[in-house]
Amino acid sequence: MSSSLALFGGTPIRTRPFPAWPVFGAEEEHRLLRVLRSGHWGRLDGSEVSEFEARFAAMHGCRHAIAVVNGTVALRIALLAAGIRAEDEVIVPPYTFVATATAVLEANAIPIFADIDRQTFNLDPAAVKAAITPRTRAIVAVHFAGQPADMDAIMALAADRGILVLEDAAHAHGAAYRGRPAGSLGHIAAFSFQSSKNLTAGEGGIITTSDDALAAACRSIHNCGREPDGIWYEHHVVSGNYRLGEFQGAVLNGQLDRLAGQTETRDRNGRCLAARLAAIPGLHPQRRPPECTRHSHHLFMLRIDPAEFGAPRTPVIAALSAEGIPCSAGYGYSLPDQPLFRNKAFGPFVPRAAAAIDYSASRCPNSDLICREQALWLGQNLLLGTLDDMEDIVRAFEKVHAHRDELKA
Ligand SMILES: Cc1ncc(COP(=O)(O)O)c(C=O)c1O
Repeated sequence: MSSSLALFGGTPIRTRPFPAWPVFGAEEEHRLLRVLRSGHWGRLDGSEVSEFEARFAAMHGCRHAIAVVNGTVALRIALLAAGIRAEDEVIVPPYTFVATATAVLEANAIPIFADIDRQTFNLDPAAVKAAITPRTRAIVAVHFAGQPADMDAIMALAADRGILVLEDAAHAHGAAYRGRPAGSLGHIAAFSFQSSKNLTAGEGGIITTSDDALAAACRSIHNCGREPDGIWYEHHVVSGNYRLGEFQGAVLNGQLDRLAGQTETRDRNGRCLAARLAAIPGLHPQRRPPECTRHSHHLFMLRIDPAEFGAPRTPVIAALSAEGIPCSAGYGYSLPDQPLFRNKAFGPFVPRAAAAIDYSASRCPNSDLICREQALWLGQNLLLGTLDDMEDIVRAFEKVHAHRDELKA
C-alpha cells in the first residue's frame, strides 16, 4: 500500500489482463463447419437454431423458446404478441439500456418510467405501483446486472390488475430467483446474445414463455406473420423476418455447454467481491436479497458515495483503470433524460403521447443520482477470473481509497 497511485507514476496493482471474452473452442468450430458444409444456413432448413431453442426452453422449465435476431426485437415481439395496442402504457425502469424503452415505443406503446431501488438497482415495486394507471398494460422488469428483480411484488401488482409482466433478461442468463430461472418468472421473457452478453453469438436474442398462445403469436410474428403448417406465401399479421440464422445457432449451442460453469464462477466471485468491497467506506455493492439464489453477474455493479469515500467517481475510475482494473461509470443518463425522450424523437410512433407526455417531469431520483455520480461497473469477464484476481480488484480499491486525498482536486 506504500506505492503511489499508478495514475501518478506508481507501480500498478496488476498488469496481467483479466480473462478474455468471448470464450470458445472446438465445439463451436465443429458446429460452425458442419453448418457451413451442410449448405443449410437458415433455420428453415437447418437444425442448430431449433436444437438451441429446445435446450434453452428446457433449461428454463419453459414450454417455448423462440430465437430472434436480437434482444430489442425479442422485447418488441413479446409486447406485440401480448396484444399491446397503440398508446397503451408500459412501465419500465429508467436505469437500463435504452432498448428496454425503445422496444415499447416501437410497439407503438408509451413507456412510463418508475424509479429503481437505490440498493438493488432493480425496479422499486412502490414506484411501479404509483405509476400504474387504468391504461397500464405491461411492466418490463429488467434483471439488472443479472440479479432478478423483485418478482414476487411485481407479479402481485400485475395479477391484481391483469397486467402482463415481461422480463428483460438481457443480463440474466443462468440467474435464479428462489431457485427458479430468470426468464421463467413472468408471463414472457426476452434475452439478448449481443457480443458483451454472458451467452453470445455476436448478435441474437430469444423469447421464453410457457403460455402457448403467446408463443404461437411470437413464432408467427418472428416469421413474417406465417402460421404453423400454413401456406408459404400466406401472411396473417403485419410482421417481418426476425429469424435467427444457423451460424449463430451453432455458436449458441457451443456457448450453452459452458454457461452453467461460468455462471457458478461469476456468482462465487461476485459474492466474494461484494463482501470485501462493502468493508471500504463509501462503497455500496448491489444489495443481494435472499431471493436471488443465483446472480449471473453480467456486471458487477456498485455505488460509490463520493462524500463517504472521500473522492469523486471520475478520478476514482481513472485511478482504478491505471491500477489494471478496467471499470466504467455505465449509463450517463437516466432514460427520461436521454435526448430521445427530452425531444420526444419518436418518429411515427405514439403521436398523441408525444404531444401529451412531459418526460422532463419523470421523477427518478435514485436512477438520476446513480447515473450522475455513483455507478461503477466491472464487466462480466473480470468475474470469470480466480479468487486471486478478485483479490487484485479489492487491493486496487483499497489502494485508491488510501490515496483518496490525491484525487479530490
Ligand atoms: C437490459 C437490456 N435490454 C435489452 C438489450 C437489447 O439487446 P440487443 O442489443 O441484443 O438488441 C440490452 C443490450 O444490449 C440490454 O442490456
